[in-house]
Amino acid sequence: VKYIPEPFRIKMVEPIKMLTHKEREEKIKKANYNLFNLAGEDVYIDLLTDSGTNAMSDQMWAGIMRGDEAYAGSSSYYKLVEAGKDIFNYGFIQPVHQGRAAEKVLFGTVLSEGKVAISNMFFDTTRAHVELCGARAIDCVVEKAKDPAKRAPFKGNMDVEKMEKIILEHGPENVGLVVITVTNNSAGGQPVSVQNVREVAAVCKKYNIPLDLDAARYAENAYFIKLREEEFKDASIKEIIRTMFSCADMFTMSSKKDCVVSMGGLIGIKDAESPLILPIKARCISFEGFTTCGGLSGRDLEALALGLYEGLDENYLRYRIGQMEYLAARLDDAGIAYQSPVGGHGVFIDAKAMFPQLPYFEFPGQVLAIELYKEAGIRTCDIGSYMLGNDPDTKKQLHADFEFTRLAIPRRVYTQAHFDVMADALIAIKERAHEIKHGYKITWEPPILRHFQAALVPI
Ligand code: F0G
Repeated sequence: VKYIPEPFRIKMVEPIKMLTHKEREEKIKKANYNLFNLAGEDVYIDLLTDSGTNAMSDQMWAGIMRGDEAYAGSSSYYKLVEAGKDIFNYGFIQPVHQGRAAEKVLFGTVLSEGKVAISNMFFDTTRAHVELCGARAIDCVVEKAKDPAKRAPFKGNMDVEKMEKIILEHGPENVGLVVITVTNNSAGGQPVSVQNVREVAAVCKKYNIPLDLDAARYAENAYFIKLREEEFKDASIKEIIRTMFSCADMFTMSSKKDCVVSMGGLIGIKDAESPLILPIKARCISFEGFTTCGGLSGRDLEALALGLYEGLDENYLRYRIGQMEYLAARLDDAGIAYQSPVGGHGVFIDAKAMFPQLPYFEFPGQVLAIELYKEAGIRTCDIGSYMLGNDPDTKKQLHADFEFTRLAIPRRVYTQAHFDVMADALIAIKERAHEIKHGYKITWEPPILRHFQAALVPI
């Protein structure tokens, strides 16, 4: 697989330092073996997330200078709302400071104690916001997503038959919301097809359940649709997005991903007359900021308005997905298993396959993340049982469907040589993987979203 040349050139650089192996061992120990506790400057290649870690363009930086800081009615706000309405064809667009703020503001209007919400897969903060409303979150992804070796075009899809069964089991009146996460982050950045969204929407309509798109990676998802769904092979990215969004009632979005900005989020409601708009505005004002800023500064609104369009550029998307394919091809050559075919925002290494000797409760995904830091200063994260946490009712450790270590790739930040460092580090770890006899145990954890803060020790 050839590395697709960058469709941009570099105008500004940020030096990064490299510690020795011994220094990194000390740093990770001091961080209680939790990569979120590391200082960013102690990391050589930071793949903890693709969220807010992107490189903005010269146009976006120029927009930062132009941002209008009016408390009410900023021109940057109007520009952003126009961009949102144009791309998604929705009647109401509300900026918020990031994705989880969109969840907090919107979910409280549709979920409450005793309700359930169903998703192809909930991202961790999204699950947390469902639970904070007193509701329960149920994942319902297609079975083939659970087998990293099985290649299929749309492994992010909802299992529609199973979803309908869950609706009937709980009673349609108790299902407050259906959420489709595009791309499906927790399943490996796997895309969802338009056909799947249409089928889910039909079931939601039948039972009168609102359908929300968790749309952080809507552009990468649309690019996969163009490549893999026959009906859309000649459609533009914007046409695909409009078609997909027309099936849902609302969207919540972390704009820190596909909009290539550092901060921002959106709520969209299709129907400009929806009764949800008034409570959304009220909750936005109390939790986020006035409706025309949503907790963002004018300059952030301005950059986001531009980023919404930049993220749709096909040359950029081809290069972006090409980076994932380049790394995946090097892993194929080395026999390293990952969620395949590779997803849109990163490579999710199958840590269960790398360390078959380690049980889920010793957190193989976290083991590989720690090894990658020690080996080459690469920071990644666990997407497995360590992240999933405990059952909110029984408090017992949950057994995740996968044990992934996620290499999330920031947009327009790292070059081909960095990708070779990633591949070489993984190959070196694979060669000594059988020598690792034990994983980690948790010595302290908070009750919710524990993986960000927990302390661990080697067993
Ligand atoms: N939904 C999805 C699918 C996400 O991936 C994220 C964040 C959020 C919602 C929450 O958005 O961070 O802006 O508040 N994902 C990041 C990640 C943090 O690393 O995958 P946020």
